[in-house]
Amino acid sequence: MAFLPTGYNSAYVGFRARSNFSEKFTETLQTMKNDEDSLGLRATTSCISFGTGSGRYELESIALLMPGLRSFTAVEPDAASAAELRLNVQRHLPNVSAVVHQMTTEEFVKSQAEVESESAYDVVLLFSILYYVDEGDRKLLYRKLVEDLGRTFDKTGKVLVINRSRTDHPECMMKMAHELDPNCRTIPSSDDIEREFSEEGFSLCRQYEFQFWQDFTDPDTSILTMFSLIVRRPVELEEMRRAISAVWKNWKTEESYLKIMVFNIASFR
Ligand SMILES: C[S@@+](CC[C@H](N)C(=O)[O-])C[C@H]1O[C@@H](n2cnc3c(N)ncnc32)[C@H](O)[C@@H]1O
Repeated sequence: MAFLPTGYNSAYVGFRARSNFSEKFTETLQTMKNDEDSLGLRATTSCISFGTGSGRYELESIALLMPGLRSFTAVEPDAASAAELRLNVQRHLPNVSAVVHQMTTEEFVKSQAEVESESAYDVVLLFSILYYVDEGDRKLLYRKLVEDLGRTFDKTGKVLVINRSRTDHPECMMKMAHELDPNCRTIPSSDDIEREFSEEGFSLCRQYEFQFWQDFTDPDTSILTMFSLIVRRPVELEEMRRAISAVWKNWKTEESYLKIMVFNIASFR
């Protein structure tokens, strides 16, 4: 199993609190809501989400964009996150039949390959998760999605991905991972994700980019834990301080960019 630092769940909350990500995310969802006729998410009845964490952003998206959801499946390996997710699902989706699998995406895809899968999903959520799955395993995941989405011929399956964009920007946070470890595996850019999906038969139908600020002044365990998941080993405070100051001269940036990409299946196979 991939390296999974302890305390990830609370670290992630602290990490997001060092930015205006949540506010910008909500604004972007409102823009998507305005496009709901063309997005076609309103009719969604079943959804699967990978790397869901506590579900903070996934559940907000479902509430706004998929009000008729009847079944929700989540895949999340971190025990504390999965426990909080179960509570959040009961609280926010009381009438939805929900299953939380406490496992990695890779483990889920493998377990599904070994049994004859009955599953079919209208919508797949991959929010800030594809960085943690290696390229070969991402391919296996996309193929699994084509199989499952392809079962419901009367609906068009959609995949919503949140991924960093403008990764060549000098202030891209991912540059810190390379400061920590020059041999760090490549973290996929939005362009990589778009290419990978199109190679598997999906087409990008919409994308929504948003900009937000981040402040890493006085780094604490929230930042160390987030980066240890990226570089797959524990990260020490001093090396983290060096990596941050090498990329952000004032420990802050106004120039963080993410994209919500909406893919659909271009052709059923
Ligand atoms: C950056 S957080 C994103 C959480 C949530 N999707 C969101 O957008 O708020 C990444 C999540 O992916 C989970 N994760 C890490 N490696 C994973 C893997 N191989 N498969 C599935 N989830 C993974 C972590 O435990 C964590 O909850």
